[in-house]
Amino acid sequence: MENNRRPETMERITTKALADAFIEEQIAQVRAQVGSKKVLLALSGGVDSSVVAALLLKAIGKQLICVHVNHGLMRKDESENVVEVFRNQLDANLIYVDATDRFLDLLAGVSDPESKRKIIGKEFIEVFADEARKLEGVDFLAQGTIYPDILESIKQAEGKKAVKSHHNVGGLPEDLKFSLVEPIKLLFKDEVRVVGEALGLPHAMVYRQPFPGPGLGVRCLGAITRDRLHALREADAILREEFAASGLGEKVWQYFVVVPDLKSVGVKDESRYEGWPAIIRAVNTTDAMSATVEEIPYPLLHKITNRITEEVEGINRVLYDLTPKPVGTIEWE
Ligand code: XMP
Repeated sequence: MENNRRPETMERITTKALADAFIEEQIAQVRAQVGSKKVLLALSGGVDSSVVAALLLKAIGKQLICVHVNHGLMRKDESENVVEVFRNQLDANLIYVDATDRFLDLLAGVSDPESKRKIIGKEFIEVFADEARKLEGVDFLAQGTIYPDILESIKQAEGKKAVKSHHNVGGLPEDLKFSLVEPIKLLFKDEVRVVGEALGLPHAMVYRQPFPGPGLGVRCLGAITRDRLHALREADAILREEFAASGLGEKVWQYFVVVPDLKSVGVKDESRYEGWPAIIRAVNTTDAMSATVEEIPYPLLHKITNRITEEVEGINRVLYDLTPKPVGTIEWE
């Protein structure tokens, strides 16, 4: 645990110069650690794994093998962006796995939130492990562990209870033994972003809002169906587009759409039109332990409502969630 503690003397990385110095130091360390061996990385497209990928690309180039698992629960265009940035722009060794059917088949009919999370987490590891077994000569596994993850593990080791089970790619099956490469494990999130920008990653990727590992799976409430998941993804894309256009995207910490497994009666083209409600959630927080609700201007809410109900098949109402955390958690499941 000792080298997992951030030294009190470690300066907070707030500038490009400090980030560049950190990057140089890590490049040297990673090269010394892995030599000419190969390193595997689960690249979700989140800030942490993206920064690790960019850092390792600089350090060891094609010795890095990134695996992007699309679990079918990504937001609109997200997997495509990962492929575009890392394979096409940065020329990384990237294996793209579309595992949508594997996940959605397993999740069919499962409505309990914790069961859904466990299935997604377990299957994620299995898909990743299947890819890892196909490769030869890989001795290292890189992870985007950051300092808050380490602090959380320390807390849990001290017997404190987690509210929700978060998933990552720790806990790989016994036959896969890798040494870990964790170049950003002593960094806080704001520092990871400064390092990401210094590495030249796109701004949108570095400032991407947090997205839970189980993805849209915990926002398509109850038992996931493909049609409701599709509606959720489209409505969420409209919300993100409108937030970006209005400038709110830069200001609000996390914003997304939730679609419950519930239908209400509506009317469209003079006919009865039953549909799901799209629930908008937009919150601000510093540590995700508590959160306040963003006061979205009514004209913007009306615009989003009109677009979602007109453009998304199956949605006939739009609601705004006014609940702070506590008492609601940020996600609904
Ligand atoms: P809650 O819903 O607990 O969420 O208030 C707090 C923050 O954590 C994110 N979250 C997750 N992140 N895996 C993750 O990586 C998960 O299973 C998970 N569940 C919640 C949530 O989006 C929010 O930012």
